[in-house]
Amino acid sequence: MAPLVFLLLFGQFLLCTAVDTITSTTPLSGSQQILSQGSKFALGFYSPPRGNTTTSSYYIAIWYSTIPLTTVWTATTDMLVSEPAFVSLEIARDGNLVLRDKYTNQQLWSTNVSIASNSTMAIIRDSGSLELTDASNSSMVYWQSIDHPTNTFLPGSKLGLNKATGLSQKLVPWKNSADPSPGLFSLELDPNGSTQYFIRWNESINYWTSGPWDGNRFSLMPEMTAGYIYDFQFVNNAKESYSYYSVKNDSILSRFIIDVTGEIKQLIWLDYSREWVLFWSQPRTHCEVYALCGAYSSCNGTVLPHCNCIKGFSQKVQSDWDLQDYSGGCKRNTPLQCQTNLTSAHAPSDKFHVMEDVRLPDNSQGAVATSSQECQVVCLNSCSCTAYAYNYTGCFVWHGDLINLQEQYRGIGGGTLLLRLAASELPDQQRKKTMVIVSTVGGVAAVLMILAIVLFFLSRMCRRDRTFRISKTAGAALTDFRYSDLLDDTQSIDSLLLNLSTLRVATNDFGEGNMLGKGGFGMVYKGVLPDGKQIAAKRLSQSSRQGIGELKSELVLVAKLRHRNLVSLVGVCLEEQEKILVYEFMPNRSLDTILFDSEKRKDLDWGRRFKIISGVARGLQYLHEDSQLKIIHRDLKASNVLLDFDYNPKISYFGLAKIFGGDQSEDVTRRIAGTYGYMSPEYAMHGQYSAKSDAFSFGVLVLEIVTGRRNNGSCNSEKYVYLVNLVWEHWTRGNVIELVDPYLSGHPSHVDQVLKCIQIGLLCVQNRPEDRPTMSLVNAMLTSQSVRLPSVSMPAFCDRLSGCSGNSESASSNGMTITKLEPR
Ligand SMILES: *[C@@H]1O[C@H](CO)[C@@H](O)[C@H](O)[C@H]1NC(C)=O
Ligand SMILES: *[C@@H]1O[C@H](CO)[C@@H](O)[C@H](O)[C@H]1NC(C)=O
Ligand SMILES: *[C@@H]1O[C@H](CO)[C@@H](O)[C@H](O)[C@H]1NC(C)=O
Ligand SMILES: *[C@@H]1O[C@H](CO)[C@@H](O)[C@H](O)[C@H]1NC(C)=O
Ligand SMILES: *[C@@H]1O[C@H](CO)[C@@H](O)[C@H](O)[C@H]1NC(C)=O
Ligand SMILES: *[C@@H]1O[C@H](CO)[C@@H](O)[C@H](O)[C@H]1NC(C)=O
Ligand SMILES: *[C@@H]1O[C@H](CO)[C@@H](O)[C@H](O)[C@H]1NC(C)=O
Ligand SMILES: *[C@@H]1O[C@H](CO)[C@@H](O)[C@H](O)[C@H]1NC(C)=O
Ligand SMILES: *[C@@H]1O[C@H](CO)[C@@H](O)[C@H](O)[C@H]1NC(C)=O
Ligand SMILES: *[C@@H]1O[C@H](CO)[C@@H](O)[C@H](O)[C@H]1NC(C)=O
Repeated sequence: MAPLVFLLLFGQFLLCTAVDTITSTTPLSGSQQILSQGSKFALGFYSPPRGNTTTSSYYIAIWYSTIPLTTVWTATTDMLVSEPAFVSLEIARDGNLVLRDKYTNQQLWSTNVSIASNSTMAIIRDSGSLELTDASNSSMVYWQSIDHPTNTFLPGSKLGLNKATGLSQKLVPWKNSADPSPGLFSLELDPNGSTQYFIRWNESINYWTSGPWDGNRFSLMPEMTAGYIYDFQFVNNAKESYSYYSVKNDSILSRFIIDVTGEIKQLIWLDYSREWVLFWSQPRTHCEVYALCGAYSSCNGTVLPHCNCIKGFSQKVQSDWDLQDYSGGCKRNTPLQCQTNLTSAHAPSDKFHVMEDVRLPDNSQGAVATSSQECQVVCLNSCSCTAYAYNYTGCFVWHGDLINLQEQYRGIGGGTLLLRLAASELPDQQRKKTMVIVSTVGGVAAVLMILAIVLFFLSRMCRRDRTFRISKTAGAALTDFRYSDLLDDTQSIDSLLLNLSTLRVATNDFGEGNMLGKGGFGMVYKGVLPDGKQIAAKRLSQSSRQGIGELKSELVLVAKLRHRNLVSLVGVCLEEQEKILVYEFMPNRSLDTILFDSEKRKDLDWGRRFKIISGVARGLQYLHEDSQLKIIHRDLKASNVLLDFDYNPKISYFGLAKIFGGDQSEDVTRRIAGTYGYMSPEYAMHGQYSAKSDAFSFGVLVLEIVTGRRNNGSCNSEKYVYLVNLVWEHWTRGNVIELVDPYLSGHPSHVDQVLKCIQIGLLCVQNRPEDRPTMSLVNAMLTSQSVRLPSVSMPAFCDRLSGCSGNSESASSNGMTITKLEPR
């Protein structure tokens, strides 16, 4: 029996492959599909991948026929279809397209419109729409799938409101990544008639708005006017208001979706990498999505998964979480005392867990209490009370589920929450009390302890002192680094020693013809070692009075830094009063000599620029986090990024030269002061530097690479504009793409990457160090599509930096950078 059925189905399938219609005589069943005329879209039965569950459900769906399965529309039915061979999608007697169970004859789904004609057909179009039309006149459309969108808004379709019928199109996400039935979120036009779209939660809470249409774009969505790939329009007349968009190049596949995570996203298919990439998305941070994490769960936009149960709670339905549906939230591990039937004599009363720096949940209720203690009693007196907070405004209690929690949150609406938990969840509190008692009783012990601590810190400070000296003399700052760690290694420096005679031969006896550059501390020469290796030899002036032993130690330190995005030290020569540092030679010199040269910059296509951005980010991450030494560069700029023959970037890190500067430590510290324009505000104004000041310099560098403009062009000219300001202004106006270097010939598939880099650049130049990402986060953002970029706010500005007074003259020589020693 079964083989016969399949044989029949298969035969039918073969007959029907190239057909784009369902008529009264040709229904659709099993694995059959219909295909639009240009073969762009297909319609058939589809079962979403369900992880490791064995049961599958089928849905009527439309998908792109040319790429790995991506649905753009699904008809959701009340009843699940477990086997598509047992159902039939057909034209019913009333002219509607229906899904019928072949065995029970039950109608599972219908287009459900009233039709005058007695002869209709369904046709799949190249626009991705399924249309129910008159069989004799296919321009007579009774129903079309794009009027009933699910989670996808396709180019050419409308999303809006029909004012006559009151019908509106809503985008509603799937419930989870395996279930197309409607989730809790929706994107729709303001039903009250304004020209803005809302993303709503459970039909009630608007947590995001596009801002009203201003004639060119939605005011809070600058991306919409990128104008490069898309053309968004909004139509508002007496009959209807809606938006639609087109993609300027028909061969680009693009879709606009609302995701299970409650965000809207514009995606583009990249043919060369065979994947969908994110063009933009809103809201800009995950945690802005209302109730994304459900109850008793805390949202963190920078890690995956974004939701985590708070203390004392665990995931309610693990399998939903696995499918990215967090809305179920978390459940209490141990019931509260008042929820059990035990009397208070048997059960210890509930306790409160202190959660500092949380975004306080919605729906607090004010209560009368004059102290935190009283506030706690108010909460304990009601079994439904789950938390309280006591702040300057007074006492607030929460009844029922706590939603929209965010831990480590220091923004508006944050504070300390006291979470009610069963006593058994908080055993530590008992112990802490005991400790307090012990320490007060043992007063003498405490005094002794304090003495011990003071001694400990004193001894540490002595060691610090030595560390500090190193960090001052070496141009880059070293933290968490102990001098004594080095002493064992001083021997290994011997392997780096080069003979002076070898270098004389290599550099044509330091001949003028080999000179690459000249700086305050010496000269740089090009040379070739006997083994054919090309080198740049930095010959330092001979005034140094530094001891050889100490010099060696510091060289070891630099020699230890090995990373393919750092220029590596080939060797060192310490003979006859000579102090020569030998580095690998970089044929493409420094980035600034190419990027800001009107001819040479043409060699830097986007692929190369992206490689440079990524490489510099990796090199910096290595310095900051991955090397044993934790180094802050402090003078990152285009002229300190060298390029090898293949345009791989190498950060040159030659604060080392300052070691040889002898007694000029005052000078050195002044010279270390980086380069204006690249300097973060806290560094420029207060001399405070950290990894985040390097991140700032990196941000400026990224913006320079993308725009091909120097961040601090001529200050004296009328036209002077600080690059960061310029990018920010264009970003908010939505035309940042205009700033992109015109030589990056507009291959559309790079636009998303370009925009991403601009956003990363802007994130790195935020005013407050804590708002800038770490380099490891930057690397994650650069390499992964799934890492969300936080929203950008106004960056640090020119005037705050006194950017125009800077003197960043630097002589970039072939393969080496020499910062002029001009005291400021
Ligand atoms: C599915 O896989 C998860 C882990 O990947 C496992 O915990 C769960 O038990 C599995 N479910 C079934 C039905 O096999
Ligand atoms: C079809 O539409 C009518 C009213 O227009 C409605 O009452 C009925 O429930 C609908 N049936 C289905 C299956 O949607
Ligand atoms: C459709 O209806 C017309 C009259 O309304 C009738 O003449 C015709 O035969 C019908 N056709 C079919 C296929 O039922
Ligand atoms: C087909 O239907 C369209 C839309 O109703 C109408 O404008 C057109 O005249 C019809 N064509 C024919 C041949 O009936
Ligand atoms: C829409 O109008 C209703 C009633 O006038 C009002 O309660 C509601 O807040 C309005 N919604 C928005 C989003 O303005
Ligand atoms: C959504 O709203 C309805 C009533 O408007 C309510 O019954 C339901 O519990 C809400 N859903 C959630 C998940 O809160
Ligand atoms: C459209 O894009 C394709 C592939 O990206 C390209 O080959 C073609 O030239 C583009 N067409 C236009 C009109 O820009
Ligand atoms: C608590 O008491 C209620 C009714 O008094 C009873 O239905 C319930 O089963 C009891 N629960 C436990 C855990 O004893
Ligand atoms: C105190 O907490 C409540 C409840 O979240 C909040 O509405 C209020 O703004 C807070 N007051 C202050 C001064 O932080
Ligand atoms: C998010 O998680 C990371 C890693 O656990 C943590 O470092 C960071 O502080 C968290 N951020 C917030 C806002 O909770």
